[in-house]
Amino acid sequence: MADRDAFDTATRIAVGDSARNYDDVAVALHWATAVLVVIQFLLAITWDYFPKATTERMQALHISFGVLLTGVVLARIVWRLMPGHYRGAIVSGWVKLASKGVHYLLYALLVVQAALGFGFRWAQGHAVSFFGLFAIPGPYGALDRATRHTVHSFHEYVGWAIVIIAFCHALAALYHHYGLHDRVLGRMFPPARRSERAA
Ligand code: HEM
Ligand code: HEM
Repeated sequence: MADRDAFDTATRIAVGDSARNYDDVAVALHWATAVLVVIQFLLAITWDYFPKATTERMQALHISFGVLLTGVVLARIVWRLMPGHYRGAIVSGWVKLASKGVHYLLYALLVVQAALGFGFRWAQGHAVSFFGLFAIPGPYGALDRATRHTVHSFHEYVGWAIVIIAFCHALAALYHHYGLHDRVLGRMFPPARRSERAA
């Protein structure tokens, strides 16, 4: 147990953790997730408007960024589960319940979305390629049209759900900063920390 505590403390010190804000690794993984989700969404809702060859390149990019996003989300979850890297809520009551609920929902939807993305690509009878560097083969071959359609629809709905929920989550964070003037945004977004002294 002592070894475990020492390891947790060492990893916290290594990333400059002040125990007040989210540590640098958690912050980097959070913003990498946010940027990748936006890229994924923009690619998917616009690729139909381009010529076929461009559409296919955009879909290949979506799949490669999808592999990256999956890695980032899994790393974020592992990092968060390591004792000492989670920041308890600084809000209370129903706001705490709602914010925790939204965070867990986002994690769950991101994991489901990754599984559906991989599942759909494999259902098309293709491996999931990462920028042509390597490809992850599926545990099954091409599936029938109806199943592919169902998986595709779920992936599309979950994609919209993530974007809408994350947008509301971002609005809530901005309201904490500009409306309530508390530390919620600053804990996750270092440039916003200058207002801490005033809070
Ligand atoms: C697709 C985009 C986004 C996703 C998927 C996402 C996801 C998450 C998740 C899962 C957490 C929980 C962290 C944890 O405690 O384990 C979190 C925290 C947080 N997010 Fe986001 N986020 C996104 C975009 C944004 C944006 C744009 C903002 C700011 C404008 C923001 C501000 C925050 C803040 C301030 C926290 C910490 C909340 C607290 O201290 O309790 N997020 N985010
Ligand atoms: C939150 C992140 C993601 C969002 C918002 C998202 C969104 C979407 C949407 C809306 C579509 C349907 C577009 C259309 O057919 O018109 C789509 C298709 C697809 N997505 Fe994602 N996606 C995400 C993550 C992933 C991940 C992690 C993978 C895993 C590799 C992936 C793989 C695919 C594949 C293979 C397609 C079908 C492309 C085709 O029709 O050939 N996506 N995505």
